[in-house]
Amino acid sequence: MTDSHPAKSEQQVKSKERVADHGEVLTGKREVNAMLDLVKHETERIDSKFLEPACGTGNFLSAVLERKLAVVDKRYHKSQLEFERNAVLAVSSLYGIDILADNVQECRARLFGIFDWLYTGLYKSAAKNQCREAVRFILERNIIWGDALTLKTVGDDPDYIVFSEWAPVNGSLLKRRDFTYHALLAQSGDRDLPLFSDAGEEAFIPEPKREYPQFTFWR
Ligand SMILES: C[S@@+](CC[C@H](N)C(=O)[O-])C[C@H]1O[C@@H](n2cnc3c(N)ncnc32)[C@H](O)[C@@H]1O
Repeated sequence: MTDSHPAKSEQQVKSKERVADHGEVLTGKREVNAMLDLVKHETERIDSKFLEPACGTGNFLSAVLERKLAVVDKRYHKSQLEFERNAVLAVSSLYGIDILADNVQECRARLFGIFDWLYTGLYKSAAKNQCREAVRFILERNIIWGDALTLKTVGDDPDYIVFSEWAPVNGSLLKRRDFTYHALLAQSGDRDLPLFSDAGEEAFIPEPKREYPQFTFWR
């Protein structure tokens, strides 16, 4: 954990080459917050899902996580277990894809840092490595090194991008189901219905590629 709050990158351009090759101009903090304010209620709902298909270093995702964790802190800080359950849920609701490996690493590290700064600050030596590892694992799965146009991962052995849904069952149990991104998009088609809707509105029911047995969130 860091002593100070995890730095928020204010650098919007890393190099001219990256702008030319990948259109990499990161969004400033003021614009990020103004845009998120348009969906303020969703950014403060602990389990509302956000996908950023060209997430860069996570300027949007980190701001969403901060908003969600502020709610978790306010509501649940008196119970470490409740805080952990809900903080894991908040992290697990965020998804990102970027084509540049260093952005993906930075985005994961940044989101982890935001969680860990708050968690360790609240519970000091009682904070559990098992919980930190759960958050790291979820971020490894949710923030994907991939191409949002081909819908495939990048690297030696490209394959279809797979997103995991982490659904709370009851108490400390989670259920993981994996979905391929291309199938989610194909199934949602042009109906413009939300993926995995949990807000009560009409949503299509996607077919999972794989389902896992329920497990406790720290595992
Ligand atoms: C304009 S930046 C925006 C980054 C971030 N969304 C933000 O607002 O700060 C565009 C990002 O898209 C990434 N990118 C470019 N082509 C991509 C592709 N085909 N699939 C996924 N990411 C891509 C770049 O690496 C870069 O991080």
